[in-house]
Amino acid sequence: MLGLKLPTDPRWANIAEKNIEEILIDHAYCEQKAASTAISLIVSFPEYPELVDEMIALSREEMGHFKMVHEQLLKRGHVLGRDRKDEYVIKLIGFFPKGGSRTTQLIHRLLIAGLIEARSCERFRLLSEELKDKELAEFYHRLMVSEANHYTMFLKFARKYGEREEVDKKWEQLLDFEAEIMKGLGKDKTIHG
Ligand SMILES: [Fe+2]
Ligand SMILES: [Fe+2]
Repeated sequence: MLGLKLPTDPRWANIAEKNIEEILIDHAYCEQKAASTAISLIVSFPEYPELVDEMIALSREEMGHFKMVHEQLLKRGHVLGRDRKDEYVIKLIGFFPKGGSRTTQLIHRLLIAGLIEARSCERFRLLSEELKDKELAEFYHRLMVSEANHYTMFLKFARKYGEREEVDKKWEQLLDFEAEIMKGLGKDKTIHG
């Protein structure tokens, strides 16, 4: 599924279930960061009209997700709380060397964004299958579908703006690297932990 090379240990869903307040807070910030990434891509690459257009829509959609997660928190008597570092994302961002042409930088950012969507989608699928709270399970099922579409969109843009063969090679390398990171994860009460 989604090209990921290492599935999450299903036991992670139990950890998530027992710590649902922390999961929801962390998740809310994942949505906020997804919206921020979309806006940042607009500012960094304004010369790509189709990308700009899609990123406008995406930033809105991700803030819509943020609102939905926030509502789930309030409904359960919790408040948002502070954001925490996402070590998984920090490691991914460090994978590609800095520099290169603008196109190269764009491709790298699109691939990383696509991968984060793919892994988030996989985690949401687990939550949708494993949570005993039926309302939340349904909620995660709907979000899983959205994030799968985002994953496809980012990959599509990377292949459109880059050279197909090179983009696919980089994608494979990034997937391998991500699988290595994942070996040490799946134990934490965060969406990517
Ligand atoms: Fe989202
Ligand atoms: Fe997304």
